[in-house]
Amino acid sequence: MAETIVELRNITKAFPGVIANDNISLEINKGEIFALLGENGAGKSTLMSILFGMYEPEEGEIYVRGEKVNLSSSKDATALNIGMVHQHFKLVSNYTITENIVLGDEPVKHVGPFSWVDLKGASEKIRALSLDYGLEVNPDDKIEDIPVSTQQRVEILKMLYRDAEILIFDEPTSVLTPQEIEYLLEIMEELRRSGKTIILITHKLEEIKQVADRCAILLRGKLVGVYDVAETSTQQMANLMVGKEIDFEIQKDEQKSGDIVLETNGMTVFDDRGVKAVDDVSLQIREGEILAIAGVSGNGQTEIADAIAGLMDLTEGSIFLHGQEITKLSIKERINSGISYIPEDRQRDGLIMDLSLSSNLAIKTFDKKPFAKRGILQEKAFDKHAEQLIEEYDIRSGQGADTITRSMSGGNQQKAIVAREIELESDLMIFVQPTRGLDVGAINNIHRQILEEREKGKAILLVSLELDEVMALADTIAVIFRGKIIKTDQAAKLSKEEVGQYMMGVTQ
Ligand SMILES: Nc1ncnc2c1ncn2[C@@H]1O[C@H](COP(=O)(O)OP(=O)(O)O)[C@@H](O)[C@H]1O
Ligand SMILES: [Mg+2]
Repeated sequence: MAETIVELRNITKAFPGVIANDNISLEINKGEIFALLGENGAGKSTLMSILFGMYEPEEGEIYVRGEKVNLSSSKDATALNIGMVHQHFKLVSNYTITENIVLGDEPVKHVGPFSWVDLKGASEKIRALSLDYGLEVNPDDKIEDIPVSTQQRVEILKMLYRDAEILIFDEPTSVLTPQEIEYLLEIMEELRRSGKTIILITHKLEEIKQVADRCAILLRGKLVGVYDVAETSTQQMANLMVGKEIDFEIQKDEQKSGDIVLETNGMTVFDDRGVKAVDDVSLQIREGEILAIAGVSGNGQTEIADAIAGLMDLTEGSIFLHGQEITKLSIKERINSGISYIPEDRQRDGLIMDLSLSSNLAIKTFDKKPFAKRGILQEKAFDKHAEQLIEEYDIRSGQGADTITRSMSGGNQQKAIVAREIELESDLMIFVQPTRGLDVGAINNIHRQILEEREKGKAILLVSLELDEVMALADTIAVIFRGKIIKTDQAAKLSKEEVGQYMMGVTQ
């Protein structure tokens, strides 16, 4: 008989305008990998933040090891051996790994009247933990010098250092390459073997299939049910998660070869720290072609997109659109000459957060018909346009077209930008991480929209950290490593594993 380690009883938590968790009851068994699945905004992070003491629910009770507990801070959770790795890591970049791990829990050594922080002892404990679980790190490295996958290991070590027995992972694989994901899943299995309990929040059904024992599905704040993973197919899980049947088959017709739309020659870009981010990159994209840049985050891919859109200057090289040089044009001139852009940081570059959804959806064209006639803004046209896009792209918000954008969930803000940029009907569309953080239903929808644009003969530059997305959409794949394109080939000629290898800089 499985032993219950955590019980959530009738948990309810509301935020303004939304019930994030609606009367949820769950039991988690000691020593299992328990997955939590649901669309964006389903309430997964909120529920686990409650278990980690970061939010207090309006209603409901929590039992840990059979005892009712009161969690009013993450300290309380830590004391109950609960740990959490958040979606966005919480590390101090100019501290070493050891300093980060002990932060807030510094080991003080006393000898006679003296006392000091015993970093050496801490380093040894970290080395031992790292050996035990295969979490390779060098405790003296600084966070700013190590890749994201290693930072994640630091977060895991931080939990283990505090003797966590119940480990919560909030979408841990979204920042990793396929090889790194495999490795992380193996570590989770190792943790389970040593008796730990793991709660894994993820969108990725394959991962759940691979490691989880049971899976709870949330839909708009409510618990749909808890399922035995071995007895549930990924298609069933996906349907339960969105509350309807979804059709995963994406139709991708053969590419029709057209004229060259975008060409870059020897493009070189330095970032704001003076580091060469893009190094001599030459690319071509034709009508009806999706060229995807694959790479591990931070290898220069976003700078390529920024430079083509006009947000960063080239120090060398040139950019041509339909044979016309645009290297020196302003952002606005580039939009007018036919470039759509979905930037990586949508809150900073993509939307004006304090304006309504309808204004944001028309922000690049408000000075043109039908939004302006003889210089007068046509309010009805804004609303009509907004309502059409809300419907077509399933943009969910509290008050429809009038919703203030800031109050929308990140996933729905993202859908709004994608809708607006596609509707511009530009000849070149640049999509940087168009589906980041979205759930399978929304991802599927955006993929269809992108392929429709390709069918219409648009040239598409896709920058994505999701290899599955690259493999599903690209006609051509260019792999970037440290600012250089180290491999370009037709997507059909490359396997996912090969691309993963190139992403790590392996060229053999
Ligand atoms: N701090 C917050 N303030 C207001 N609303 C929030 C906050 N955190 C989450 N929400 C809302 O609660 C709902 C559930 O969010 P979340 O738990 O983050 O979902 P998930 O992790 O499943 O994507 C969403 O509608 C989200 O917009
Ligand atoms: Mg979340």
